Amino acid sequence: MPTALITGANRGLGFGLTELYAADGWNVIACAREPEKATALQKLAASGKGKVTVKKLDIEDHASIEALAKELKGQPIDLLLNVAGFYGKRIVSDPGGLGAFGESDYAEWDRINRINVLGPMKIAEAFVENVAASGQKKIVSLSSIIGSIGGNPGGHMYAYRSSKAALNAVMKAMSVDLKDRGITAIPIHPGWVRTDMGGPNADLSPEESVTGMKKVIDGLTPADSGKFLTYSGETLPW
Ligand SMILES: NC(=O)c1ccc[n+]([C@@H]2O[C@H](COP(=O)([O-])OP(=O)(O)OC[C@H]3O[C@@H](n4cnc5c(N)ncnc54)[C@H](OP(=O)(O)O)[C@@H]3O)[C@@H](O)[C@H]2O)c1
Repeated sequence: MPTALITGANRGLGFGLTELYAADGWNVIACAREPEKATALQKLAASGKGKVTVKKLDIEDHASIEALAKELKGQPIDLLLNVAGFYGKRIVSDPGGLGAFGESDYAEWDRINRINVLGPMKIAEAFVENVAASGQKKIVSLSSIIGSIGGNPGGHMYAYRSSKAALNAVMKAMSVDLKDRGITAIPIHPGWVRTDMGGPNADLSPEESVTGMKKVIDGLTPADSGKFLTYSGETLPW
C-alpha cells in the first residue's frame, strides 16, 4: 500500500485528508505540532482504520523536520502532502480582520511566511529522497486562490496572500528541478472550506474539499507537474 506524509493532520483539512487516505488503505504518517492534544487523530490511529502513525512535527522548527527525516530515512513516501498553514490571528470570518493596508503586523507576517512558505520547502528538501524512492512520487502543497495574482484581484490579506503566492513560486520551481527524478509537484487550492481557518460561512464542507482534492491528487501524472489546480481539477492562473 502507498504511504502519505501529511502535515497539520490534527484538525481541519489535514485531519479530513488523513481520514480519507486511511479509509482508502494507505499508510499515513500523520504529523501534528502537539500530538498529545490531537485527540481525534489519536482515536483514528487507534481505531485500526488504515495504518495511521502519529508523529510530532512543528514545521516552523527545522530541527524537528530534520529529526523526523532521519527517523524515516529509507522509507518510501508516495505523497508528501503539505497541509499545515497559518492565516494569522485574525481569521477570515472576522469582518474587521482581513489584513487591511496600514494594519500590517510584521512579526506575525514573518511567522506566516515561516509556516506557509519555508515550511513546505523545508519538508520537500528533507523528504525528497523518500519521495524519489516511492511508486507515485508526488509533492502537493495546499495553496489558496487568494495567492493567485491573475485570478484574485482583491485587496487586503497582504500577509496570507503574499505567502501563498510565494508558495506557488516555490512549487513551480520545484516542479522544474525535480522533473528529472520523476517527481510531480503542484500547489492545490482546496476551495473555501468550513474549517477553523475558513470559518462557518465558507462554501464547502471539509468532506467536499478533501474528496475533491484526493480525486485530483490520485489522477496526477508527470504532465500535471507545475500546474496550479483546484480541488475540482480546474487550472488557476498564477
Ligand atoms: N479553509 C479554507 O477555506 C482554505 C482555503 C484556502 C487554502 N487553505 C489552506 O489549506 C490548509 C489547511 O487549512 P485548514 O482550513 O485546515 O486550516 P486550520 O483548520 O486552521 O488548520 C491548520 C492546521 O495547520 C497546522 N499548523 C499551523 N502551524 C503549524 C506549525 N507550525 N507546525 C505544524 N502544524 C501547523 C495546525 O496545527 P495546530 O492545531 O497545532 O495549530 C492545523 O493542523 C492551509 O495551508 C490553508 O492555508 C484553506
